[in-house]
Amino acid sequence: MANLLVLGTQWGDEGKGKIVDLLTPAFEVVARYQGGHNAGHTVWVRGRKIVLHLIPSGILHAGTLCVIGNGLVIAPAAFFKEIGDLEAQGVAAGPARVAVSRGAHLIMPWHPLAERFSEDRRGEKKIGTTCRGIGPAYEDKAARLGVRAGDLADLGILREKIADAVAAKEPVFRAFGLPALDAEAIYREYAGWAEKLGPYLQDVSELLDERMKRGESVLFEGAQGALLDLDHGTYPYVTSSSSTAGGAATGLGVGPRTIHGVLGITKAYTTRVGSGPFPTELDSDLGRTIATRGDEFGATTGRPRRCGWFDAVAVRYACRVNGVDRIALTKPDVLAGLGDIPVCTGYRYKGRLLKSFPPETWMLAEVVPEYRTLAGWPESLRGAADPGSLPKSFVEYVRVLEDLVEARVAIVSTGVERADTVLLEDELRGIVDLDRVRAAAGK
Ligand code: IMP
Repeated sequence: MANLLVLGTQWGDEGKGKIVDLLTPAFEVVARYQGGHNAGHTVWVRGRKIVLHLIPSGILHAGTLCVIGNGLVIAPAAFFKEIGDLEAQGVAAGPARVAVSRGAHLIMPWHPLAERFSEDRRGEKKIGTTCRGIGPAYEDKAARLGVRAGDLADLGILREKIADAVAAKEPVFRAFGLPALDAEAIYREYAGWAEKLGPYLQDVSELLDERMKRGESVLFEGAQGALLDLDHGTYPYVTSSSSTAGGAATGLGVGPRTIHGVLGITKAYTTRVGSGPFPTELDSDLGRTIATRGDEFGATTGRPRRCGWFDAVAVRYACRVNGVDRIALTKPDVLAGLGDIPVCTGYRYKGRLLKSFPPETWMLAEVVPEYRTLAGWPESLRGAADPGSLPKSFVEYVRVLEDLVEARVAIVSTGVERADTVLLEDELRGIVDLDRVRAAAGK
């Protein structure tokens, strides 16, 4: 089996968790390459909701190795809370199933403190972050002040690194009236994590290389979404890591040629949490109806998500930046019965039609979207088992989207459970055994 990269093509929350979980049985390894516990990947199994933050969404399939790359930032307490929650639900998540890169950076106690301060100081211009310390941990990584998971292996090194970082932070914290940092107390806390985290730590680049040489295949899992990428997203209203496809190579220590295909997860409408421009936003009762029907509340923070129409300009851009060749279209069932459905086909800036998604976020904030209205589908899509049972107007919606974003739709997700899936390509039927999935779900 070829390796596959799965990522979101919008502002996150496209439903990656379900698709990764569905595809996992075809892969031996699922490897995440960026972000931290800011992510929230929801997987439903037989009516049970499981939300994953740090652990790859392949964990629910016994026998799959889940890998956390050097591109992630890890809060040890959050990691072990998630492991504990999974094990309480009968999901094995010990070191035999989860490998953490020695190069991953640790979220330290000063990171969430600094982030809350920075968000408050920005006032109206706040990013609307998850306040988990993610951004400041990546700041320290770039400033070469970070503490890495591998540093836990030598307590002398750990103590020194923490002391150096605290010495750099202390004057700033003091000047702004933030709580005092006690390097020794922080060292003791992290020395405590060292023993627990130790068995999970591995040289992930080497591990993946060995597994691939053995003929095993890897599913690379992105978190957040392409439009939240630090370089290619709507900067500064982005997360602080490389959520686009390029991040997989740097975030796991694999060569770009190990990525054989890129599957973009795309919601049939658009959502966004936090601040930043959103051209097709529906700040109206209709937007709130979509939010309610789609259960659009943050899996990590519980914040309501902003909702709007499908934005083909943004998704076409994401497909280009990531080399997306196929799409899994999620949540079209939410739009059933809403009447005609507008799709954004272009942006006008100061009256001029733009050629593509603008890299300047201030320009994006001013664009006027142009829409093409498509016939909606009154029928629910639930229970559709094959392409032939999908409503005609929905099939036409898919065809128009494919033309606009320049990528084929290969999977349609019609509900939250694994079995609520329609495969549009024969090639995928060899990867996903839907009959087995449906039989297991009693459908
Ligand atoms: P941070 O990742 O906590 O720094 O937040 C930066 C931006 O990314 C904010 O707008 C967050 O709402 C957004 N964000 C972070 N993680 C996710 C996610 O998993 N889904 C959707 N938005 C996210």
